[in-house]
Amino acid sequence: MKQSDRTSRRPIGIFDSGLGGLTIVGEVRRLLPNEDIIFLADQANVPYGTKSEAEILTLTRAAVPTLIAEGAKAVVVACNTASAAILEELRERYADTAFIGLIPALKPAVALSKRGTVAVFATGTTLRSAIYRELKAEHAKSTKVIDIPCPEWVRMVEAGAIREQTLEEPVRQALASGADVLVLGCTHFPFLREPMARIAGGRAELVDSGAAIARQLKSVLAESGRLNSQKGRTVGKTHFLTSGDGTRASEVASKLTGRAVRFQTVGH
Ligand code: DGL
Repeated sequence: MKQSDRTSRRPIGIFDSGLGGLTIVGEVRRLLPNEDIIFLADQANVPYGTKSEAEILTLTRAAVPTLIAEGAKAVVVACNTASAAILEELRERYADTAFIGLIPALKPAVALSKRGTVAVFATGTTLRSAIYRELKAEHAKSTKVIDIPCPEWVRMVEAGAIREQTLEEPVRQALASGADVLVLGCTHFPFLREPMARIAGGRAELVDSGAAIARQLKSVLAESGRLNSQKGRTVGKTHFLTSGDGTRASEVASKLTGRAVRFQTVGH
């Protein structure tokens, strides 16, 4: 087998602090149906969003080698919080793997806003990060950006118990400030899209980075000759790994996605 074929048949790694990364697994699976995917949720340490950048660096450094050991040809850091802290370092350390990170979808939100005001829902660490400050400086010059940290939303998704009333106050606050676009700046939040849209009641659009990240991954793989083009192969396998409780993760993930998801516990 040619080296390039061996590389293209390696899996795509997707990493998050918790179950939020499943929203990215869904987008990647839709766009790249024949790729194998290994998803790793560092649930022993979730949430990342209330930790310092130094702690997030340590945790991400410890987790990513699990995906590298599985032979990942590319790794999506499906966590806005961790991406802001570590992407450059990972690219230098693992030259044989492509790394793709997430940032809140501020650029499309600015383009979509008619009133010139957008609200970004994310973790405190993402909102305080240098990369997010740069994003605002570059893309939101004449747009007002309202930052809304909502760490408790991450916990709610991790517990698989979504209470609409917890979302009400922050969404109403964004609307009252004039925002007509709401950015889901954390990979856990697309699981809250429906209740958030209900509260917004047509007064704002909701955007996230999931579909754009899947497209970016596809073009990175295509440009480096790593797309899996094995003939006759239509459906790739997905393996779900967690550093937390596999049984509990399987239960909550199946509830959130509406499909049977089986997690395996790994130590790293
Ligand atoms: N899902 C992660 C993100 O996109 C962070 C959640 C957390 O661990 O706080 O930022």
